[in-house]
Amino acid sequence: IPVDQFDLVIFGGTGDLARRKILPGLFRRFCAGQMPPDARIIGAARSDLDSAGYRQMIREAIAEFGGEQACGDEQLDAFLAQLEYVTIDALGEAGWSELQKLMEGSDRIEAYYFSVAPSLFGDIAERLQKWGMADTRARIVVEKPFGRDLETARALNKTLATYFNEDQIYRIDHYLGKETVQNLMAVRFGNMLFEPLWNSQYVDHIQITVAETVGVGGRGEYYDKSGAMRDMVQNHLMQLLCLIAMEPPARFDPDAVRDEKLKVIRALDPVLAHHIVRGQYQAEPCNEAENPGYRTAVDNPRSRTESFIALRTEISNWRWAGTPFYLRTGKRMAARSSEITVVFKDTPHSIFGDEAGSHRNVLSIRLQPNEGITLGVTIKEPGPGGMRLIDVPLDMSFAETLDPEDIEHVDAYERLIMDVIRGNQTLFMRGDEVEAAWAWTDPIINGWVTRNDVPKPYDHGTTGPTDAEDMIRRDGRKWRKIT
Ligand code: BG6
Repeated sequence: IPVDQFDLVIFGGTGDLARRKILPGLFRRFCAGQMPPDARIIGAARSDLDSAGYRQMIREAIAEFGGEQACGDEQLDAFLAQLEYVTIDALGEAGWSELQKLMEGSDRIEAYYFSVAPSLFGDIAERLQKWGMADTRARIVVEKPFGRDLETARALNKTLATYFNEDQIYRIDHYLGKETVQNLMAVRFGNMLFEPLWNSQYVDHIQITVAETVGVGGRGEYYDKSGAMRDMVQNHLMQLLCLIAMEPPARFDPDAVRDEKLKVIRALDPVLAHHIVRGQYQAEPCNEAENPGYRTAVDNPRSRTESFIALRTEISNWRWAGTPFYLRTGKRMAARSSEITVVFKDTPHSIFGDEAGSHRNVLSIRLQPNEGITLGVTIKEPGPGGMRLIDVPLDMSFAETLDPEDIEHVDAYERLIMDVIRGNQTLFMRGDEVEAAWAWTDPIINGWVTRNDVPKPYDHGTTGPTDAEDMIRRDGRKWRKIT
């Protein structure tokens, strides 16, 4: 179903995110018939280009990052014809009157995507207002990093609130746009089966792993000032934790969902120093030139920034008190694998005796790759032997279970941008959520600074420092395999 007519202005329209994700994603939506033919996409950036030059740049970007050709050349030409470009100075006056002229008299939905450094958010918002483009119909989309601590996040929220109401601000966390992340809510709240067991009485612990094989690549300068805690845990892993732990919202609507997520963040326990392990990856042996170690990659031989984190926390509320949540994320690990695992407790009594061994139900929700949900159940080992038990997976791999023809693959960004146009904020972070997440993260990071903490080295292609294994082993548990 096509969305309503819209004008989308992308500040930073020539940047990496716009070329890699935003515009190829919009082209795919165009091919799927979701973009109305008169919708306009206006790139706005410092580069001295005209609309024809911009269209050429985006044609090349779609060829490079668009994945499989979404639809034919004719369609691509039609899509590109909907693009315009304005050379603009976010810190000055140049270009603003041109943009204003383009937007003047429009009675369509207006969205402004701030795909720029957060230090420019305030300047752009101020100019949008000055040039009459910040009326109550306007929607703005902002990218992470949303601050680097509570203080800066508060300041950013305050600045944006000077010009826009909260219901106009769409803070993107692209993990919320992933298919399986939404499926997590469907599984929890669309089935009777799981919810009665979803608490500390039946759940032994929960693990969330987001492992990547990539290193910091060309983003060393940004990454070295952030580290895994700010780059991944404060936002992506925190959002996954909220969805897995929150109470059922009364409705699937933005504030009902976000109220419940906020309660989870506010109930998170502080993390004790011995419940957290930081790591930094080493070079790949014999291939240092291609896969250098972290410090070389960020060009900072004394860097103490972590590229890996493993931590244990708890949620102090009636549902979860006493149930550990183990979070783990890192770069240059053994495999690319993101998974949430709910490990249920042992049965209270084994009627089959010790020989049968102890078995646990494990529900694992795989975000990527091979999206799907697996429930491990215990059955009798087939055959004439005694009552020996084994665990087998009840597997629902989406690619295998559903007819591929019926699955429409929608990238997280595509989905989220269409949600902006539809005016649906359910999958976007509210200002108070972001602040609460920083309020939990700040003391952890400050603790490292006070203790002069140095991350533990870990080998390329592994599961991180051995200390992370030791941390969970001390609790009598072990991490899920990264595959
Ligand atoms: C980004 C982080 O937000 O998410 C990156 O800044 C990380 O460091 C990326 O690589 C992971 O996203 P995905 O969708 O590839 O899992």
